[in-house]
Amino acid sequence: MQKKTVLITGANKGIGFETARQMGRAGYGIWLGSRDKARGEEAARSLSDEGIEARSVSIDVTDGTSVKQAAARVEAEDGKLDVLVNNAGIAGREMIAPSQQSVEDILRIYETNVFGPVRVTQAFLPLLRKTGNANIVMVSSGLGSLGWLSDPANQFYGVNFLGYNSSKSALNAITVALAKELAGSGVKVNAADPGYTATDFNAHSGYRTVEQAASGIVWLATLDEKGPTGGFYFDGEVVPW
Ligand SMILES: NC(=O)c1ccc[n+]([C@@H]2O[C@H](COP(=O)([O-])OP(=O)(O)OC[C@H]3O[C@@H](n4cnc5c(N)ncnc54)[C@H](OP(=O)(O)O)[C@@H]3O)[C@@H](O)[C@H]2O)c1
Repeated sequence: MQKKTVLITGANKGIGFETARQMGRAGYGIWLGSRDKARGEEAARSLSDEGIEARSVSIDVTDGTSVKQAAARVEAEDGKLDVLVNNAGIAGREMIAPSQQSVEDILRIYETNVFGPVRVTQAFLPLLRKTGNANIVMVSSGLGSLGWLSDPANQFYGVNFLGYNSSKSALNAITVALAKELAGSGVKVNAADPGYTATDFNAHSGYRTVEQAASGIVWLATLDEKGPTGGFYFDGEVVPW
């Protein structure tokens, strides 16, 4: 039987790379998505050195041609995809008041964090549908939780970034919409909050490790057909929308 496969965007480093490693250890064949070919190949090589089957694939989530070419390659080599992890994401110019953040800056964030996952999911959906039991994981953020951000007692209440936070709230809304459409089709769609994690994203100021962050993503990525769809989770616990 053909090995199960997973494609992870932005997997050349950070949470995406660790997710690739944990999925590899769980027996999945890895499509290691990277917008930079050399960085992707180097990351895939380091997984291969650990005995994990990893192929690097060029994919810039803001570029429709690049996304289509990646899907065409996966189709040509495997004919299907079992799991898609939409992990690639960027921060904005956060040290700016919401009323001062330019639409251009917000649009730049949305191109990667919102339109990117939509573009990638739409391109890979035909390959995911072929498996009969596929999982899509949107790597969201607790900063996308309106429930948490509007609760003065929550640790993230004061983190008032317009562009980034709203991009992840939009990604959550997209998760719900896709999950509803795909219910019963054999494709589940869930969102994961990896938590505040030490990566280049925040100059390694996060208090969680990439190992901790990836484990909640891997849980959603490996759900069986009876698993939940249309949810938002942190370490396996439900997060309020
Ligand atoms: N770290 C945290 O505390 C935290 C908390 C909540 C949510 N998250 C989310 O977790 C995800 C991963 O973040 P991280 O902390 O691992 O950040 P990271 O170390 O900065 O890694 C981000 C990855 O995304 C890639 N990327 C950026 N733009 C891309 C594009 N247009 N196309 C393809 N890949 C692109 C980067 O590629 P390059 O190497 O080429 O730049 C890199 O591989 C993001 O969605 C982030 O919003 C992180």
